[in-house]
Amino acid sequence: MAHETNGTATLLAEPLPLPCGATVKNRFYKSAMNEALAGRDCAPTDAHVRLYRTWARGGAGVLVTGNVMVDRTQLGEPGNVAVEDERDLAMLRRWAAAGTENGTHCWMQINHPGRQSPITINPHPLAPSAGTVDGGYGRFFAEPTELTREQIRDIVRRFATTARIAKKAGFTGVEIHAAHGYLINQFLSPLDNRRTDEYGGSLENRARFLFDVFDAVREAVGPDFPVAVKLNSSDVPIAVKVNEKGSVPGGFSEEESIWVMKQLETRGVDLIDISGGTYAKPVIQTNAGAAEDRRRGVYFTDFARRVKGELTVPVALTGGFRNAGDMERALGEGITQMIGIARPLALVPDLPNRIIRDGWRGSVDLPRVTTGITALDKAFGGILVISWFEVQMNRIGRGKRPDPRIGGLRALLFAVRQHGPAALAPRRRRGRQ
Ligand SMILES: Cc1cc2nc3c(=O)[nH]c(=O)nc-3n(C[C@H](O)[C@H](O)[C@H](O)COP(=O)(O)O)c2cc1C
Repeated sequence: MAHETNGTATLLAEPLPLPCGATVKNRFYKSAMNEALAGRDCAPTDAHVRLYRTWARGGAGVLVTGNVMVDRTQLGEPGNVAVEDERDLAMLRRWAAAGTENGTHCWMQINHPGRQSPITINPHPLAPSAGTVDGGYGRFFAEPTELTREQIRDIVRRFATTARIAKKAGFTGVEIHAAHGYLINQFLSPLDNRRTDEYGGSLENRARFLFDVFDAVREAVGPDFPVAVKLNSSDVPIAVKVNEKGSVPGGFSEEESIWVMKQLETRGVDLIDISGGTYAKPVIQTNAGAAEDRRRGVYFTDFARRVKGELTVPVALTGGFRNAGDMERALGEGITQMIGIARPLALVPDLPNRIIRDGWRGSVDLPRVTTGITALDKAFGGILVISWFEVQMNRIGRGKRPDPRIGGLRALLFAVRQHGPAALAPRRRRGRQ
């Protein structure tokens, strides 16, 4: 039954029960965006508290935090929060309290970057296998050391510790980040994982690290606490041609991804957050904003259609949702149970209220982010877009309104002021988002 809101029926207002017994109040899933608000101590700040209070009051059912690292010596991006013990428990409590106002679920996304940790912030990255990083981006990432079995067990314990502390602080769920080329994704991908022990080789072996992490996290938080997993639909490597099915020859394929999802379902996952992309189509492809969105529409719909009918656990589909019509269509078609939204919520933090409460039927048009200098736009493409959205989150965190008129140059300067020159190094290997 769709709820009547402001005269319009909308599936978006329907509550969603999760397998663990928790219920989410509506279908808006604020996807993870690294806020880049932590200082060198990797601690949450007053700005996190203000930002998440604003989002909670904006009406989303679930707010997923930006990725929180399990080891402060292994960061994915400058400005990451890291939680490896209880030293910041008081601030974490304030963050969780703000994010859970208004009956909102606030889930901490937990991550380890593996080899995808820029050299400017980490000269000693760890990975499933050693070896240089792809192509032109090699110089931005130090060559990683292959993880020993003991180090693997240590990281599994760290995921569990971070999840336990998240729950103790008042977060109402966690999301394990197994996508976007970070450590768990590296284990899954035969292109990154060339191990010959029980963590490499067959799909069962490559998925073992994810399953170990999942089981340890579930054990740490108990059976009635939401645990989600963000997973790529397939691999997104550099310099490997993607076939028409969106799979990469020799890489983590869509079939493998669906197998992993089914295993996670059996193990007791509460929600699968579908992400990924292809070499030809990374998540944030260009800085073209609304023009790109109009061309692409909602991301990963073909894969979501493949997944439909294979899983009984809820799915969140993220990427490209800009208007209520597309959102309702995706829910109505049953290809997703939650609508994942990232960038639009940094510009319009109360988008869920506007749609559910006020019946707004417009579209959030993302601006084309440009410095006005073509060479700079080209050189800093991905960083430009990320920095621009970080500026908007920073503004909300300081009690200001987002400002879509801010230029790309100002965003780059802001990033350098906040984090030093490290801010301008690529955050992800080419072709991965
Ligand atoms: C500034 C920024 C930071 C991001 N940080 C994360 C992150 O920490 N974890 C994650 O899983 N995805 C991250 N993403 C990807 C988003 O969750 C999302 O998949 C992507 O922006 C596409 O969704 P959209 O079209 O609604 O923006 C980030 C995106 C942006 C723009």
